[in-house]
Parts: sequence; structure tokens; C-alpha cells
Amino acid sequence: MLENFKMNNYCHCGSGASSRISNFVIRLAIIYTFEVAVAMSQSVMMVNDAQGGFVYKEFQDPERDRLLYGHFPPNFTWATATAAYQVEGAWDEDGKGPSIWDTYSHQDGRIYNNHNGDVACDSYHKINEDVEMLKSLNVTHYRFSISWPRVFPEGVPSMKNMNEKGMQYYQDLVNALIAANIEPMVTLYHWDLPQTFQDTGGWENDIVAVYFAQYADLCFKQLGDRVKLWITFNEPKVVASGYGGARKAPGLGHQSTGVYRVTHNILKAHAKAWHVYDDKYRKNQGGQVGITLNCDWAIPASESEADRDAADRALQFGLGWFAHPIFVGDYPDVMKKQVLEKSRAQGLTSSRLPIFNEDEINTIRGTADFLGLNHYTSQMIAHHNSELMPSSYSSDQDILGWHDENWPKCGVSWLRPVPWGIRQLLKWIKEEYGDPAVFITESGIAEKSDVEPMLNDTWRMQYYTAYINEVLKAYILDDVDVRGYTAWSLMDNFEWADGYLSRFGLHYVDFNDPARPRTPKASAEIFADIVRNNGFPNPQILSKSSKYLSKLSSYLLFP
Ligand code: GAL
Repeated sequence: MLENFKMNNYCHCGSGASSRISNFVIRLAIIYTFEVAVAMSQSVMMVNDAQGGFVYKEFQDPERDRLLYGHFPPNFTWATATAAYQVEGAWDEDGKGPSIWDTYSHQDGRIYNNHNGDVACDSYHKINEDVEMLKSLNVTHYRFSISWPRVFPEGVPSMKNMNEKGMQYYQDLVNALIAANIEPMVTLYHWDLPQTFQDTGGWENDIVAVYFAQYADLCFKQLGDRVKLWITFNEPKVVASGYGGARKAPGLGHQSTGVYRVTHNILKAHAKAWHVYDDKYRKNQGGQVGITLNCDWAIPASESEADRDAADRALQFGLGWFAHPIFVGDYPDVMKKQVLEKSRAQGLTSSRLPIFNEDEINTIRGTADFLGLNHYTSQMIAHHNSELMPSSYSSDQDILGWHDENWPKCGVSWLRPVPWGIRQLLKWIKEEYGDPAVFITESGIAEKSDVEPMLNDTWRMQYYTAYINEVLKAYILDDVDVRGYTAWSLMDNFEWADGYLSRFGLHYVDFNDPARPRTPKASAEIFADIVRNNGFPNPQILSKSSKYLSKLSSYLLFP
């Protein structure tokens, strides 16, 4: 099944065998170029050790952390991303219905300073400005999401219920992108469920999976002649945290069983949507449908077997929760075992983790043409016997996670740059799931500021240089089938519970100005350079006056 799935995968982007061969030839050429570059760099390094420098003073392992010069394959996808609720604004305009994020952010005390997404970056009225920014970054793709209640205000999808004006916004955006030679990569669900569904249980109610497939169907029908990359869900784990905790919509605190019911339904919804595309649209539209999962890299806190098993559990509960049913079949064994044992010890007769029947396992297995990966940071992981009560997804794992104090910091506490973690995670995915095609669909760093613009963002220049370079190593040295890299985000936007305080943008947005002007930060130019070069050319073989070289040397460390 997995083999079939892989062959299918290749078939989507060329005729099976020939595309395998051309892939192989491209890789050989790249490895050859790389080796020539390394040979050159080694001889030059003696006279000028600017070659292969380090980005972070905290990470200077000569084997692991030196910059690698080389290029991504010619068809590599370069993108930036946003999400509807975070940028669009126009929350009740032109017939849009409310989403759970409208409801949640309008409740007092939920969001920093009671910010909300009513106006956000006003992207609903700024297609031209957004496309201009994308053009200046040289990207090949733009990842954005569709707001379900904008196109189906009542939630229930049908041609009759479609909000024409809402759908027109996405038609116009897609057309403007294509006119600018930028391809759309569209997420169907980036957390903004129609409020009408939440009123009857939201994702805890399995009927929503059926409606989601209908919604996906109509989006494919309306936009699929021009959209060739579809992502069903963004980060189902975080969707679940909205049901399990209080920091994200709908904020219910159903941490014991709710999180598992929600994700069970999301997996079914994802699979239904993939099958709709496969049955009705793939032949004519020729696109691909995947899912985006988020995961930190897990580093065992010690060499002990207990800590190594704990790190593996962190990955299985983090990524395997969804990737295992989709790429292998059913939930990971360790997850089934942990939750069942805990549930029994808690006096329950069955596991809090729902069970898929054979038919469901087979329907979900093989339903991703690619894996979208959102990755920002890493964690140290140790074994920890959690308290039995209260029961939760987090205590089910029996782990403790933390950031090493020596890692660099940034504006948000949950994120510390650990560039080599992304390479390790990509390698793990390749081995665990049979070498799937992977698009990095988000990656980035934040500063905190709601007063001063912080335009000289060296931390972001470092982050993108180091992280993208580690992705290059995964591609060239580890042979990972990585197809693209997406920076989060095109511009500062509504950062969920942090409101407009935490800023992830390559462009600064002034949220105090009704016109929401966008200004490039210094990192935008570096990112655009990496994209234009499709990687990292060896500075020694560039002319001395190269802008790229002088820019790199302005923030790299050369020990
Ligand atoms: C992701 C999410 C994005 C963005 C980013 C930075 O989890 O998909 O919407 O907010 O984190 O926190």
C-alpha cells in the first residue's frame, strides 16, 4: 500500500519512472556541484575561513553547524504563509458568518489587551499590497487559508448557501497571484470553524467531518482549476488544544477525552476530503492534497533508555498521532498502549483514545500526497511519571519537556532557535514514514513589540539562514524528499492569544494606523536573496562585490 502510494505520488509530478530518474540525475548533479564547492571551499578556507561559517555563537559544532553551500532542486517551492483569521479582517463584512475565533476573541480577557481579528491586516481589502510584498520576496508560492464562514456563513456547504462575495475574494486573490506568477497553496482549515457548528459541539461532533468534506468539495470545484496544492488542516494538534485548554478557541478545557474525540473526527474529515479530490478532481485538475502537522524535534535529555523512549513518545504523540494513521495505518502502538493503561488505572473500562475500525484504518491510510510540516523549535525530553489525575493528553505521555538554557532566545518563550533540530526531524520523518514528500509549510521567529517598530531584525536573518541551510543539508546530505520551504509569516498579524504583540512577519505592520501600512524588515531582503539564489551559493566563487556576500558577512560569525 505504501509502495503504491509512493508511486502515485511520483505520478502526480511526472510520469513515474522517468521522474524518478530525472530526480536522481538532478540529485547527482547537485551532489557533484556540492563536492566541487566543498573541495574549493577547503582550499580557500586556509586563506579565508569565511567559508562555511557559523550563524549562532551558541551552535558551533564544526561537523553539525557549519553552513553548507549548495542549491535546492530547480522546482523547489519557496513560499510565505498567512491564515485567514490572522490577516483578513472584515470579520462581518459582505455576509461573512462568525467563526469560533470571532466569538473567542470578543470575550473579555481571552487575548492580550483584548485585541481581536476584526480588522487584522485588512487583507480582505488589500490584495494588491499583499501580492506586491510577495513579489518583492521572489517567492514561487503563497500559502493562505480560506475562512469557511466567509464562504459558507451558516457552515453547511452547498452551492445554494455559498456567499458569492466571500468566495469572490478568494477568486480575486488566486487570480492576482497567478497574474504575478505566484502559485497558491491553500489551507482549507486554519482554525476558524463556523460558530454555528460549535453551537452543536464543533469538532467533538462527528457530523462536522461530513460537512468538512462538502466544504472541501466546493472549494476544489470553485478554485481547483488554478490551485494545485491543497492542505486540508493546519495543525490538528493545536485545533485539539482549543478544546483541551483555554488559550485557543473555543477554549473548553476538555483535556481528558475531548482532545482525542476532536482529532479522531479531524482525521476522518481529512481522509474524506482527500478521497473527494481523488475521486472527482484529481484527473482533471492534477493537483495534490496533503495535511500540515506541527512538531518540535525531541532531544533525549540523557543517553538512558528511559529518556530515549520518552523522546520517541514525544514524537509519536506529537506527529505520529496523525502521521501514523495517514502514512502507516492506525494510531501509533505506544500511544494506544499509554492511553489504554492510563485509562484503566483511572478506573475507566475503555481507552480515552477512540478506536478506528478496519474500514476506517484503510480509508485513512494513504491519504496524503505530501506531508506539510510546521516546525519552529526543539525540546529536551526526559521520562517522567505523571500524576494519574487529572487525566490529559499531556500527562498521558509521561514526559517532561524544556528548552536548554544555552539556546538563543526570542520574543516568545515557547520558541528558541535550534537550527539542527529541523534536519533531525526531517530525517526521522523520512525513516518513520517511508520517505514521503515534505513541504515545510511554516517556520519562523518572533519579536515582541506593540510600541516600537523593530525593523533591523538580525535574529530573523540568522534564523532563516540557519534553518534553511539545515533543510539544504537534509536534502543534499540525507536525501530527504523535501519539496519546499515556507516562512511564517509574510507580515506581522494577529498572533492568536498574543494579539498583535508577538510579531512573526518579514514585513512590519502598523496596527495603530487604519491604513495598516506594511514595511519590509531587514530580513525580507535576506530571505528574498536566499530564494533568488535557490539556496546558498559559495561566496568564494561569487564576485567580491556581490551584495549577497557582504550581507551574509554582516551577521554571520566567523570563528
Ligand atoms: C503556528 C500557526 C500559525 C502561527 C504560528 C506562530 O502554530 O499555524 O498560525 O500563529 O504558529 O505562532
